[in-house]
Amino acid sequence: MWKKVLICVVLVAFVGVQFANSLTCTKCTTPSGCKSPSSETCSNSTANANRVHLESYHSNVPTVNGSLNFACANLTYYHAANYSHTSEFLGCVFNETKVCDLTLTNTASGWSKKCLQCGTDYCNPAGTFSGSAYTIVGSVIAVLLAKVLS
Ligand SMILES: *[C@@H]1O[C@H](CO)[C@@H](O)[C@H](O)[C@H]1NC(C)=O
Ligand SMILES: *[C@@H]1O[C@H](CO)[C@@H](O)[C@H](O)[C@H]1NC(C)=O
Ligand SMILES: *[C@@H]1O[C@H](CO)[C@@H](O)[C@H](O)[C@H]1NC(C)=O
Ligand SMILES: *[C@@H]1O[C@H](CO)[C@@H](O)[C@H](O)[C@H]1NC(C)=O
Ligand SMILES: *[C@@H]1O[C@H](CO)[C@@H](O)[C@H](O)[C@H]1NC(C)=O
Repeated sequence: MWKKVLICVVLVAFVGVQFANSLTCTKCTTPSGCKSPSSETCSNSTANANRVHLESYHSNVPTVNGSLNFACANLTYYHAANYSHTSEFLGCVFNETKVCDLTLTNTASGWSKKCLQCGTDYCNPAGTFSGSAYTIVGSVIAVLLAKVLS
């Protein structure tokens, strides 16, 4: 009996640690690079590096030296006429950056913007493999729990 309780506690703790872990985002900074993006873990240093990148073409990026709140962003500029992507940025930002409210320095006409800021692992490429990964992990844990409790 106590053995089962112990195993449950360990499992729950393990799952808790997994979810409390830092945020991971899809990462790329150019339209061509975003065809095969990498990933990055959110931290003060990765978010600061991305802030520098965003500052290179936005005028009002707030200075945030560090934060405990991070978000994944997918910020895409494209020509509405032909939908060719001019600029694409995916990565980790400080929540306080409010990446979708940033103003472009270069106000050349004819650009449209799509922007997404979200707070779960790999949420920035509008939901591809992250959901299924969690579903698999979730069902494995459910099966384990069912076995332990039976
Ligand atoms: C950020 O750091 C710089 C220098 O490291 C400092 O001058 C500035 O006050 C800091 N800003 C905030 C909001 O902490
Ligand atoms: C990141 O910055 C925040 C705010 O300055 C600070 O509280 C936190 O400890 C920093 N995190 C790391 C890992 O340095
Ligand atoms: C798309 O349209 C914009 C504005 O009309 C133009 O500057 C750009 O060269 C076009 N891109 C392509 C790939 O046709
Ligand atoms: C991020 O900021 C928004 C509004 O500024 C807030 O609603 C949200 O709870 C914040 N997220 C986190 C993880 O702190
Ligand atoms: C980012 O968002 C844009 C616009 O919604 C989308 O076309 C693009 O596929 C997204 N990027 C990735 C890597 O999913």
